[in-house]
Amino acid sequence: MELLEAIRRRKTTNGHFLPDPVSVEHQQLLMELAGRAPSQLNSQPWRFVLIEERPTIEEIARLSGASMTQAMSDGTFFERYRRYFRFSEEEMQTRRDGMLFDHLPPLLRPFTSQVFTARGQKMMNALRVPRTLGEENRKLVAGSPLLLGVLLDRAEYRPGELSSFYSLFSMGAAMENLWLATTELGLGIQFVSFPMEVPGNWQLIEKLLDVPDELELMAVYRLGYLPPEQRRPAIDWSSNHRKLPSQYVFRGTCATPQTGWDS
Ligand SMILES: Cc1cc2nc3c(=O)[nH]c(=O)nc-3n(C[C@H](O)[C@H](O)[C@H](O)COP(=O)(O)O)c2cc1C
Repeated sequence: MELLEAIRRRKTTNGHFLPDPVSVEHQQLLMELAGRAPSQLNSQPWRFVLIEERPTIEEIARLSGASMTQAMSDGTFFERYRRYFRFSEEEMQTRRDGMLFDHLPPLLRPFTSQVFTARGQKMMNALRVPRTLGEENRKLVAGSPLLLGVLLDRAEYRPGELSSFYSLFSMGAAMENLWLATTELGLGIQFVSFPMEVPGNWQLIEKLLDVPDELELMAVYRLGYLPPEQRRPAIDWSSNHRKLPSQYVFRGTCATPQTGWDS
């Protein structure tokens, strides 16, 4: 696969993976490519933990599902991220960013306009939406053959100092190398981030993974081979839209948006 094609085809998978273990060869390749990323003064502040142990995956899945149910039923999730949620193609065409919820059970469709209201929250809880989504999330994570923990060396990652920006930037670059490679290898990848939304749950994962004091757990991903037919979860979104160049590129100074490149 050409690099440019891999960049254009790279995406997040919000669906089930095949149960097949990720080959050791592919795991080794993903780690090699992540390690080729740029970092300040070649400090390579990233560390990775590859997780195939079922009990650990099941426990992280349980925490992820429970965190999603809690964050959705107490409204914090919608409050925190409402500005990214889109419910119509028209809105998405205008904004060209965020998540378009274009796959919803018929029962929920009439209520999308109320999702962010107290009444909407009450109705969603009554319809057990947070519980259903949480359980679906648990199954997605539990059904993944491989989880990947991404950590930073605290000697490099010192919040409040310039080094923390450098380390986060380098970690992002390492993950993008890995993310791009999944496209070539027929793998899917998705953040497992809901445990970050509920105080205390992230620390439970750090304990589960035996994270030492000198490292900080920054993210967890689920990975697996993509099934030929990808069945969409009951509530699903698409986020393939991107801003037009005139919306994020400037020419000469920020006073002059780049024109003539929008297609
Ligand atoms: C810092 C960061 C956090 C993210 N958190 C989540 C997440 O919690 N769940 C998820 O499904 N995707 C998550 N994503 C993936 C984004 O939603 C996704 O990259 C964006 O919607 C564009 O879609 P694409 O990756 O398919 O191009 C995250 C991406 C980044 C860079």
